[in-house]
Amino acid sequence: MTQDLQTTTYTLIDGKKVSSDIKDEIAAKVAERKQLGKKIPHLAIILVGDDGASQTYVDNKVKACKSVGFHYTMMRFADTISEERLMKHIDHVNNDDDVDGFIVQLPLPAHISVENITEKIRSDKDVDGFTNHNFGSIISKSPLLLPATPYGVMELLRRYGIETEGKHAVVVGASRIAGAPLSMMLTEQGRATVTICHKFTKDLPAYTRSADILLTAVGKPGLITADMVKEGAIVIDIGTTRVEGPEYPKGWAIKGDVDFKNVAPKASYITPVPGGVGPMTIVSLLLNTLRATELRHP
Ligand code: GUN
Repeated sequence: MTQDLQTTTYTLIDGKKVSSDIKDEIAAKVAERKQLGKKIPHLAIILVGDDGASQTYVDNKVKACKSVGFHYTMMRFADTISEERLMKHIDHVNNDDDVDGFIVQLPLPAHISVENITEKIRSDKDVDGFTNHNFGSIISKSPLLLPATPYGVMELLRRYGIETEGKHAVVVGASRIAGAPLSMMLTEQGRATVTICHKFTKDLPAYTRSADILLTAVGKPGLITADMVKEGAIVIDIGTTRVEGPEYPKGWAIKGDVDFKNVAPKASYITPVPGGVGPMTIVSLLLNTLRATELRHP
């Protein structure tokens, strides 16, 4: 076996640090609104069922609201709730003037249509940016509320001074909540040349190897191996898979799509999982909630 001499030293993209800085900025704006007697942002979170991973994500969102001084409401429903009843609750939150933004945590039980539920959310309160309106508004001159995960990725790149214009960005995964809107944002706002790969792509490594910026949002730990990455590439891992095992102190751990240990020495910049994109998604939710509040109560 030949041993490659690695000369690259990579920069770890610290999403925890950036998100903490942004939270400080949001907290300062909330304090200012309070002082001026303006409305304090209020986020409502709808959680259906008792999926452990969803519970962890929602706990983190509540913690984030508390840390910046937002008001929040948690609404829990049993996984036996009908789509019709859930729709009625969404209608109620849509019309509740005190709630500035809300989210329905995914996944939902199989008997409930994610698309029907998502489209029921008022677009000016859709702080996840999941509705067709907000998805489409990425390509408008003034987007309303940007999809939270891609928004977080773009902000991370911007704050690290990573230039995207004219670069070849390869996005692996074309989901509605991550890969698809991210590809559009990299094109529209990032002015990158974008390739989208997905489960029907033939010869995935041929595409990933040509990426200046490789972004992956699949949910398959270890999918991106070192041989699939160009020397000096920027690697952004959006994969978030909860892996269970007795070797983890909590009984589970969050894993990304990238084989970090072997890919990092080839990268120029790389995000860890956890502590990379994850905290940025939550901060985007806060930024969107603040924006929704400012639009409703300038
Ligand atoms: N499930 C996994 N990620 C997300 C997210 O960003 N928002 C919601 N609502 N559900 C999720």
